[in-house]
Amino acid sequence: MGQTTRVDLALSPPPGILHLAEPVLMTLADLDEVAAIEHEAYPFPWSRGNFVDSLGSGYTGLCLREIQGRLLAYSMLMPVIDEVHLLNLCVARADQRQGLGAALLAASIAAARASGFATMLLEVRPSNLPAIALYQRYGFSVIGRRKNYYPAPDGRREDALVMRLNDLTGIKPETLHVVA
Ligand SMILES: CC(C)(COP(=O)(O)OP(=O)(O)OC[C@H]1O[C@@H](n2cnc3c(N)ncnc32)[C@H](O)[C@@H]1OP(=O)(O)O)[C@@H](O)C(=O)NCCC(=O)NCCS
Repeated sequence: MGQTTRVDLALSPPPGILHLAEPVLMTLADLDEVAAIEHEAYPFPWSRGNFVDSLGSGYTGLCLREIQGRLLAYSMLMPVIDEVHLLNLCVARADQRQGLGAALLAASIAAARASGFATMLLEVRPSNLPAIALYQRYGFSVIGRRKNYYPAPDGRREDALVMRLNDLTGIKPETLHVVA
């Protein structure tokens, strides 16, 4: 992971997820679709430029597509010394609650683990209960809180929970959901 290291994305798709392609590295060519999903999924989305900057900085983006090609979900991982920060994990609105978030989180963890990272960190809004439930299911625990970290409606701010997964080796792809 990083500017020069190619990550090993090998991930055995769990039984039943036969219509998914293997996750692949995000490139600039993906960004029209990524930005469209991002703007539909988040009240305060990243701009296209945020993705351009992330890729330009050597961060690792992963894209999960249908075999037929349609983009379903993506993540963005930033290596910081010996930790990986999960900056973004997003499933297209219409495709949520089918196990794709879990599948992409597992693929992101697998990519980080394959690159030798032992821990993963992320920030999440305390109001984002679906995401918190997903992260907790994968063994992340809350290690801190950043006050007024996120923009919120009506000019207000929302805190961020900082969550960490300490042992990336503990994730087993066979625990993933099955997409019918
Ligand atoms: C958070 C997100 C990635 C989850 O993806 P998903 O594909 O819908 O989630 P999955 O179907 O893989 O669900 C896996 C687990 O996540 C949790 N979960 C997902 N959606 C949930 C919901 N609406 N309510 C409660 N728990 C939920 C559950 O623990 C679920 O396991 P279960 O089905 O056994 O209860 C997705 O809702 C999303 O993209 N949201 C918008 C972007 C976002 O907020 N990203 C996180 C930023 S920190």
